[in-house]
Amino acid sequence: MYKISERTIEKLRQTKSIVFFTGAGISAESGIPIFRGKDGIWNKLKPEELANFDAFMRNPEMVWEWYKHRKQIIKESQPNAAHKTIAEFQKYLPEVVVVTQNIDNLHRRAGSKIVYELHGNIERNYCINCHKFYTEDFELTDKIPTCECGGLIRPDVVWFGEYLPEDQLGASEKAAKSCNVFFVVGTSAVVYPAASLIYTAKENSAYLIEVNIEETEVSRLMNESYFGKAGEILPEFLEAYKKDCR
Ligand code: OAD
Repeated sequence: MYKISERTIEKLRQTKSIVFFTGAGISAESGIPIFRGKDGIWNKLKPEELANFDAFMRNPEMVWEWYKHRKQIIKESQPNAAHKTIAEFQKYLPEVVVVTQNIDNLHRRAGSKIVYELHGNIERNYCINCHKFYTEDFELTDKIPTCECGGLIRPDVVWFGEYLPEDQLGASEKAAKSCNVFFVVGTSAVVYPAASLIYTAKENSAYLIEVNIEETEVSRLMNESYFGKAGEILPEFLEAYKKDCR
């Protein structure tokens, strides 16, 4: 049981627009590995060999092998209590926006309606030549998926050195500027430009609340921080809010 402060409840009661800015930590309890820290993916594998366009052109088989593995993990996972709570907030608050760095689609699967994906979506793929989109699962064969135009098909995710999708970033900036409460959930907040949204929200006087199992680079910016698992803490926010409404 986490103690949710009076101040948090008051802010939630007053808010018209709320943003949940999420990272890999929110999906950790769904069984999807995070990137940094002791058991993080980037501790064992090199991003420049897997999440990078040059690496893909050098060795598309290897990059595809890794993404097929990740697709499989994500396909078998389910939204957890944290994703579900964010979706449930839609019943009570006028505007609930999710801005996520995750590519796992779990927010949508949990029922969130406004979801901006800063780093793409692993369920989509596109041809590097003609940009045709593909949503089907590619079989786990040795063959590299190829478009009807002959171009290589790649996952629709943002790799290191690539730009973020302009429409998603633009909409996220707008939401960060206009929201009253900005939650930062399960992210180390070290990857830019995504993390800059936290500063945008702060500059525009949003009330900042962090949920993480440990302190992060941005904890000092927060109005309040709650340390523990997102799947345990977020349902407590909703319960406390509902209790206050009765
Ligand atoms: P990280 O792996 O950098 O950070 C995950 C954060 O989640 C850490 O701060 C953990 O302490 C926290 N965490 C772990 N389990 C948690 C739980 N159950 N509840 C709450 N917090 C928990 O992941 P991101 O910040 O998402 O980019 O990483 C940002 C980007 O770096 C990713 O989108 C990806 C990666 O390279 C691209 O692929 C472009």
